[in-house]
Amino acid sequence: MNKTWIRRLNLEDLDAVAALNTQAFGGTEEAAITRHLHADHDSLLSLVAHRHDELVGHIEFFRILIGGKPSAVGLGPMSVLPEFQGRGIGSSLVRMGLLVMAGRGESIVFVLGHPEFYTKLGFSADLAKPFEAPWSGPAFMAQAVNPGAPVAGELTYPAAFG
Ligand SMILES: CC(C)(COP(=O)(O)OP(=O)(O)OC[C@H]1O[C@@H](n2cnc3c(N)ncnc32)[C@H](O)[C@@H]1OP(=O)(O)O)[C@@H](O)C(=O)NCCC(=O)NCCS
Repeated sequence: MNKTWIRRLNLEDLDAVAALNTQAFGGTEEAAITRHLHADHDSLLSLVAHRHDELVGHIEFFRILIGGKPSAVGLGPMSVLPEFQGRGIGSSLVRMGLLVMAGRGESIVFVLGHPEFYTKLGFSADLAKPFEAPWSGPAFMAQAVNPGAPVAGELTYPAAFG
């Protein structure tokens, strides 16, 4: 296959994904989070982008509790290999993941990331602001993917995020 394409991650991909995370982020912290999410079965959806036989992008979605209830989703880590950045692969991974989450009936997705990248994809720091979380500020954003999403509450992240 010649084009870039997206599929679900298989567990055999984890080493390649960890290497991708490490290369894109320039450190091993995000690779460790990805491995931890999978070891704890806390990943809700994990997608990879292929170019030929090479994995060039990856995104994770995981459960977040609001007030102790499984009412929200978190996005991350996500990364695209440096030489393939700026070609729309990251945006495609986010859009596809959000569509799947919406189709599963999830209501709201949180992310901590580059504001310029995620606001273009519909995320808003204002929407995330009323929630109590380990993070705050312009990099902490949310997007409602179905009507009736919670508007406030205390967020609990999986153990992978410490
Ligand atoms: C952030 C990242 C996943 C984006 O993937 P990508 O495939 O390069 O993104 P796209 O090509 O879909 O970019 C979409 C838009 O976001 C912008 N953008 C991409 N990365 C950006 C960044 N770090 N900061 C600000 N804007 C960014 C692009 O310029 C593009 O804008 P345009 O539509 O006006 O041209 C990728 O750059 C990456 O892996 N970075 C290193 C790891 C990282 O920081 N991940 C954290 C994400 S929270």
